[in-house]
Amino acid sequence: SLARSSLDFQGMKLPGTVHTAESINYAWKELKVFDDDVFNVTYPKSGTTWIQEILSLIYSNGDPTPVKTEFSWDRVPWIEQHAHKAKIESLTSPRLLTTHLPLKFFPQNFHKSKAKVIYTIRNPKDVCVSLYYFCKIAQFMEFREDFQEFVARFLSKDEVYSGWFEHVKGWLTLKGQPNILFLSYEAMLKNPRENIVNICKFLGKDLDDAAIDSVVTNSSFKAMKENGKSNYSAVPKFIFNQDEVSFYRKGIAGDHKNHFTPALDEEFDKTYHELMKDVDLTFT
Ligand code: A3P
Repeated sequence: SLARSSLDFQGMKLPGTVHTAESINYAWKELKVFDDDVFNVTYPKSGTTWIQEILSLIYSNGDPTPVKTEFSWDRVPWIEQHAHKAKIESLTSPRLLTTHLPLKFFPQNFHKSKAKVIYTIRNPKDVCVSLYYFCKIAQFMEFREDFQEFVARFLSKDEVYSGWFEHVKGWLTLKGQPNILFLSYEAMLKNPRENIVNICKFLGKDLDDAAIDSVVTNSSFKAMKENGKSNYSAVPKFIFNQDEVSFYRKGIAGDHKNHFTPALDEEFDKTYHELMKDVDLTFT
């Protein structure tokens, strides 16, 4: 079995098995960034896999062949994971890349480039619930069975990738720049097509209606849950154990209401208002 161990990288906690200090330094300081690179950036559990699928489909002009034949982590690899370095260096442009890195450890070369970032934000209470189940599934994540304890960690600075609050606040400092698009998980759920059209516009990709329809259909929760190249069913159980909970768990907004007691909800809101008081965000 794997160790549910953490790595400390300059005060940022990360799941240890999939990262090394070297792999973070590689992404942060060495990664070459090309003008046509597209970065899918998220705090974990905010819609990462969904955007991976949408990007793959947009760049194939709606043709589902790539998403049905190549694993998501090979099509749109994580730049900070040590297992992906060779893959990233073998990709042909335009490259589609994924990361959970906070802005302060994002590739330095990005800032000298015209590369694009898509940053997806999800209601943090739902992120917290989704992360709870993910930590149960992913055998390399530190896990607290007690949900109240889990929430306390989520609200602290001790959560992975700098925690949700620092992550979102850091990335929001780039708001208004032309090469970053902010998406909302909840808005995507409500109107996937409109958001996909908007992503295409941002990327300068001109897809016809039939191609857009195919992106919408093939990136639906149901299609992705059934897609063996995107549902992690090929990952051995000692890494991802989906016996009790599926990676594609619910894919809805508001599941926190089924998990938070009124007291826990109040505690969460208190921290949220303290840490996010200067930030203009609303969740539906
Ligand atoms: P839940 O655990 O709430 O179901 P990430 O990809 O960032 O790890 O996020 C995973 C979350 O996104 C899970 O949330 C998963 O079900 C949801 N998700 C994945 N694909 C989705 C899709 N096509 N539509 C809606 N939600 C999706």
